Amino acid sequence: MDDLNDRALALIADVGLAPYAGAAAIELPYGRKRALELATTLALDPEMLLLDEPTAGMGHEDIDRIATLIKAVAVNRTVLMVEHNLSVVATLSDRITVLTRGRILAEGDYQELAANPDVREAYMERGMASPLLAVSDLRAWYGESHVLHGVSFNVNAGEVVTLLGRNGAGKTTTLKSIMGMVAKRSGSVQFAERELIRLASNVIARAGIAFCPEERGIFASLDVEENLELPPVVQPGGLTRERIFELFPNLKERLRSQGTKLSGGEQQMLAIGRILRTGARLLLLMSQPRVWRRSSSSRSGGPSGPSRRRVSPSCWWSRISISPRRSRTATM
Ligand SMILES: Nc1ncnc2c1ncn2[C@@H]1O[C@H](COP(=O)(O)OP(=O)(O)OP(=O)(O)O)[C@@H](O)[C@H]1O
Ligand SMILES: [Mg+2]
Repeated sequence: MDDLNDRALALIADVGLAPYAGAAAIELPYGRKRALELATTLALDPEMLLLDEPTAGMGHEDIDRIATLIKAVAVNRTVLMVEHNLSVVATLSDRITVLTRGRILAEGDYQELAANPDVREAYMERGMASPLLAVSDLRAWYGESHVLHGVSFNVNAGEVVTLLGRNGAGKTTTLKSIMGMVAKRSGSVQFAERELIRLASNVIARAGIAFCPEERGIFASLDVEENLELPPVVQPGGLTRERIFELFPNLKERLRSQGTKLSGGEQQMLAIGRILRTGARLLLLMSQPRVWRRSSSSRSGGPSGPSRRRVSPSCWWSRISISPRRSRTATM
């Protein structure tokens, strides 16, 4: 029995959990829970480990810790791992297999795959090697009131990241701080590896970030067409009017309606249409704090009445990439 305890404690120490040895698993932070899972797997002394997204939903520090851990355990074991984080993939893998739609697309080491046009097209160009937006230790104040206390997260190219939180949690302030619209802020906001934290909003917009505020920011006295003509082109690749009308047919039907004469939903379409015109690479979209999910019956294609339920209001990030599909969460 003592032997077993010693072995358990040694494993706990190996995965960096010695200070938590007496803590209940449920009380561990997320990254430490994953380390504990790894330790319990290692306790079986397997020759081979199958790891499914070992760094999913983790912040930088946890990712580094888990990657170091996997590297250590891989010294005398074989590891087959599914992973989205390309820097983890690059650091840990001897060989990589890329799957697409149930088939092998390519195999090789990281350098070979990074040079493979099919892989770049299918995966890496949308990928995660360096995030498009890296927010780190973001703090913001309104006058004396300290509202953001060190927010850190990344957004990779091609991802949709959703910020959920209670009223007053700081969601709007986070987006406004990224956009340079909060006078007093500190930390780092890197966009395409360029530091934005000290830049003015107009410069940030021209760098390629577009902001659609909750109050929509459309011109009330202008009609739909004029609203769509006005946004500046900040980068090539903005959507044409025709493409926007394909996305939002209502707008085409209301071409001559003034901004304020549109329904709330149509105003939202126009506001999003306006920022899609600019060619910005990153869109910051404000929405209602209520978030709805389709029920499983509507997801499975059954008669789809808008059966929805409200997500619990705790504060977390959910991350869903457009392709390949994946979702992640991280607590704010
Ligand atoms: N212009 C402002 N001046 C002073 N305090 C502000 C200002 N705007 C927001 N705050 C305060 O900052 C905190 C965060 O507000 P923020 O608007 O970022 O919350 P939120 O998460 O977007 O909330 P909601 O879900 O209600 O939109 C709140 O306590 C709010 O009262
Ligand atoms: Mg808000």
